Amino acid sequence: MRIIKAKDYSDMSRKAANILGAQVILKPDSVLGLATGSSPIGAYRRLVEGYNKGDLDFSSVFTVNLDEYCGLGADSPQSYRYFMNVNLFDHVNIKKENTHVPNGLESDAEKECARYEALIDRFSGIDMQLLGIGHNGHIGFNEPGAAFETLTHRVALTESTIAANRRFFDREEEVPRWAYTMGIRSIMRAARILIIVSGKEKAPIVKEAFSGAVTPKVPASALQLHGSVTLVGDEDALSLL
Ligand code: F6R
Repeated sequence: MRIIKAKDYSDMSRKAANILGAQVILKPDSVLGLATGSSPIGAYRRLVEGYNKGDLDFSSVFTVNLDEYCGLGADSPQSYRYFMNVNLFDHVNIKKENTHVPNGLESDAEKECARYEALIDRFSGIDMQLLGIGHNGHIGFNEPGAAFETLTHRVALTESTIAANRRFFDREEEVPRWAYTMGIRSIMRAARILIIVSGKEKAPIVKEAFSGAVTPKVPASALQLHGSVTLVGDEDALSLL
């Protein structure tokens, strides 16, 4: 694992965007695996800047996102499709039909998960997968205990995730109980993985995931078994490594 130390969130975002940008420059028809959450927002902003400056061209790029809430569609501001549109896709010259997020409105889980895996297969895999890491070591919605062999599947959200998401919704009953997520095996099949992390509160899990035992109790620890992982973390997040 290559570890790149950044000063702070802004520096982490710049470094991550440079790596993603280089991928797009070197392979214009790259398949990028993308994530939502607070970690990648700054990197996406930098990619938009790169596009506006004329340095980056997304016209041949394909994307597949890690996850989506069940029951939410593109119009719902809490959906991950909406997040991707407002933070990246709407601001660069990517073709919307080349961007993929699990379809949260598909109620047939088996069908949707098979469709999503087949899509990744059709691309012959993901060239570079961007990841954030949860405080409990989750990647995508693969929570502690998730088997390393899983492909895209539907997961029941944990009580703590439901509670954490409550603030984004008007009423408790609106908070999704289920999500579609790429499995750890789907993630591990990416040719290269870029994981970004910032903040002191993530330091203990960074230490556990990347210098502790490889165990399903810490889903991100599976990345130790991948041959091409780059971790870009700020000083706070890497402080215990
Ligand atoms: C997002 C995702 C999650 C986040 C993780 C970290 O698509 O799958 O695993 O990457 O929860 O979230 P932030 O970046 O908000 O700390």
